[in-house]
Amino acid sequence: MTGKEIRKRFLEYFERHGHTRVKSASLVPHDDPTLLFVNSGMVQFKKVFMGEDQRPYVRATTAQASVRAGGKHNDLENVGYTARHHTFFEMLGNFSFGDYFKKEAIAFAWEFLTVELGIDPNKLWVSIYDDDDEAQELWEQIEDLPPGRIIRMGEADNFWAMGDTGPCGPCSEIHIDQGPEVGCGQDCVLGCDCDRYLELWNLVFMQYYRDESGEMTPLPKPSIDTGMGLERVAAVLQGKQNNFDCDLFTPLIDHIAELAGKRYHDNDGDDVCLRVIADHARATTFLVGDGVLPSNEGRGYVLRRIMRRAIRYGRTLGLESFFPGVCALVIETMGEAYPHICETRELLAQVVTNEERRFGETLDKGLHKLDQEIERLQAEQGEGATIAGSFIFRLYDTYGFPVDIVRDVSIERGVAFDEAGFNAAMEEQREQSRKSWKGSDVDHLDGGVLELVNQGRSAAFSGYFQTEESSIAAALLNQAGELVTSGAVGEQLRIFCEQTPFYAESGGQVGDQGELSWPGGRFQVQQTMAPVEGIILHQGEVVEGVLEQGQAVRLTVAPRRADIAANHSATHLLHAALKEVLGEHVKQAGSLVDEQRLRFDFTHFSPLSPEETRRVEQIVNAKVRQNIAVSTALLDREQAIEDGATALFGEKYGDSVRVVTMGDFSKELCGGTHVAATGDIGLIKVVHETGIAAGVRRLEAVTGVQAMSWLHSLEQQAAELSQAIGCPLEGAVDKVLVLQKRQKALEKEIGALNASMSLANLDQLLADAQEIRGIQVVARRVQLDSAKTLREIGDKVRDKMPAGVAVLGGEFGGKAALLALVSKELTKTIRAGEVVNRVAALVGGKGGGRPDMAQAGGSMPDKLDEAIARVPAIIEELLS
Ligand code: ALA
Repeated sequence: MTGKEIRKRFLEYFERHGHTRVKSASLVPHDDPTLLFVNSGMVQFKKVFMGEDQRPYVRATTAQASVRAGGKHNDLENVGYTARHHTFFEMLGNFSFGDYFKKEAIAFAWEFLTVELGIDPNKLWVSIYDDDDEAQELWEQIEDLPPGRIIRMGEADNFWAMGDTGPCGPCSEIHIDQGPEVGCGQDCVLGCDCDRYLELWNLVFMQYYRDESGEMTPLPKPSIDTGMGLERVAAVLQGKQNNFDCDLFTPLIDHIAELAGKRYHDNDGDDVCLRVIADHARATTFLVGDGVLPSNEGRGYVLRRIMRRAIRYGRTLGLESFFPGVCALVIETMGEAYPHICETRELLAQVVTNEERRFGETLDKGLHKLDQEIERLQAEQGEGATIAGSFIFRLYDTYGFPVDIVRDVSIERGVAFDEAGFNAAMEEQREQSRKSWKGSDVDHLDGGVLELVNQGRSAAFSGYFQTEESSIAAALLNQAGELVTSGAVGEQLRIFCEQTPFYAESGGQVGDQGELSWPGGRFQVQQTMAPVEGIILHQGEVVEGVLEQGQAVRLTVAPRRADIAANHSATHLLHAALKEVLGEHVKQAGSLVDEQRLRFDFTHFSPLSPEETRRVEQIVNAKVRQNIAVSTALLDREQAIEDGATALFGEKYGDSVRVVTMGDFSKELCGGTHVAATGDIGLIKVVHETGIAAGVRRLEAVTGVQAMSWLHSLEQQAAELSQAIGCPLEGAVDKVLVLQKRQKALEKEIGALNASMSLANLDQLLADAQEIRGIQVVARRVQLDSAKTLREIGDKVRDKMPAGVAVLGGEFGGKAALLALVSKELTKTIRAGEVVNRVAALVGGKGGGRPDMAQAGGSMPDKLDEAIARVPAIIEELLS
């Protein structure tokens, strides 16, 4: 049975049993900052298990794309060397949200394995959590499970948790006995350390929520989460002992092997490389497909390591430009089951090609650094030289330079290498990154904010509909972040009100400014932010009177909000237009919206051509003129995405999401404030386009009033230009071209005049000769218009010069030109080439020629005088 068929049968089986088929979620968890990547099927249902989110179904089934690299479940370093580890794999799962529990979960799993897949019950074993008597009883009721096959195991094996915090529970695993020939050869049972028993399917009885302190509280309703790695089942059903030997990998491995001229299973070392590349190409394709791009931090860093590991193993096989092709093949083989990866085909090609090239450079640079270090160490320490762990770590950390290569090189060069020191540095960094991924949201909250959270406070935001409102200044925070009861003129505070029309900075939209006022007092709001959801704080200064906690206040948002809204709505139009003009691979990678302008970053692999930019502008402005009503609605997140709303990567969305729609042109999940109809935007003008990272472009645009003032300043510049060149704007270009031509001709004329002056002054030039060790030396700067003039002058100098050396230098076309002459009888003592090269080195160049005449150029004409002044000293040196 092929992998594809198993996937299909699994989903169909559970659909037949009342489960809703749900799409694989993005690998970037949308609402969980504690998790690097989606690492199992249950992640997208985390909140449903916790009772914080509801779905229209209580049973679900998925084939979930999962990545286990970085974070709690990290398999990266093992991949390739073991039969079962992957960075990327597909997890088949069925889920019950407070519906069925252990009994049905066990029955479904058993039936699917033994009936649907036809696995012999005599080969199956089951493990359960130590004290789970209920599971024991339920398994005993399964008639065709042979007696003695239920084994109790401890927490390490039979208790599953998504991460350090989150839903978790005891589990029961189904294992397959691969036969005595695979294992230790003893008559062992499940639990033996050997490879004989292979875990197939994990049934988690989701019962608890574990918090930061490790405390476990029961979930509202016991639920079911199961996970079965597709690659494993496929390997088992296909009679293979290594996941990489199943048909899900065969096309990839065959392709790589062919490129490298190798055969899979011919050589263990090559096999590791082939597997690593196949695995990592799948991870790369899916991660880029979900908007992750290689970078030096967070998710991007993990992706970069995965890609570089693959590229490096490719080099071991002798492959250099190969990885984009392997990734393209992943799309071909998996695009049908996961259509979204097809949309990023071009972006993927670009990103992978770039990374391959950059890593190639890194390897070269790193090798050079390593060479230098080894030389230095050998000079200093002689035999017994040791490369320090910290040095290797720096190479690894800053250049991504692989440690294995350091190991290889150190063996070759006969130096030791401090692996323990390196590991210690690595461990320290791991610790750091663990810290920065855990609870970062909560750790940095001020005391006062935490108190508000603990009091269960949450502000109602009314700013979608109004910009003024009355409320109570319910809490005041001082600059130290503590709660205070009042603030007088001049004091900086952050104020919490029960209701507010002020938008707190988020989703790229700046926070509102404005004023809070009360009889006898005013508070100027400079910024609005929400350090945690619901705690909206107005930051600013009391500018009049005294503000007491509990005071009724009038909140008024500053008028600039209208411009911010126009820019935000314009961003949505641009996003949709870019997709239309450039393709579906365009994904938002960041944005900033304030009252002045908007900035929009998106994935695309090359600069926009002027035509493309113009088309985008035409489309968005046509939409502006159509004055399309902007509507917003709160929808169930799944539903919204299924309806085609554009969700942004890495954004956190709640269970119900706000969808902003502009006719049939744009639909995005967005919490920002928008115009009522697109006509309010007035005009959208793109003013700047640049690249900000590999595969990421940035557009800046202005709208409305700002677009008008942009046009005005353009108009002003045009007027100044036309005045400066003294003709109406229409003829300005022609006039400038004429002026340029004329200037060129004049420059040429001046050059020629200068040159003839140089020639005329030849006698003067020779008269300045000085004598060095009995030789006449002339060193002069001359006026030039071409290399030819220099040679002409040279010829004349030679004719007139008594026995001696002449060095002439000049500048034309932004470069330095040098000529050295040595009279024939002296060429045995001193050569023109030598002279000119020594001088040329001072102006950043070199040259050559005959012993009696040599020429050189140089890129630093401003150093010419200095270089010419050095000539006597140079000749002196050459003669001595
Ligand atoms: N979430 C469980 C696992 O990943 C099923 O093993």
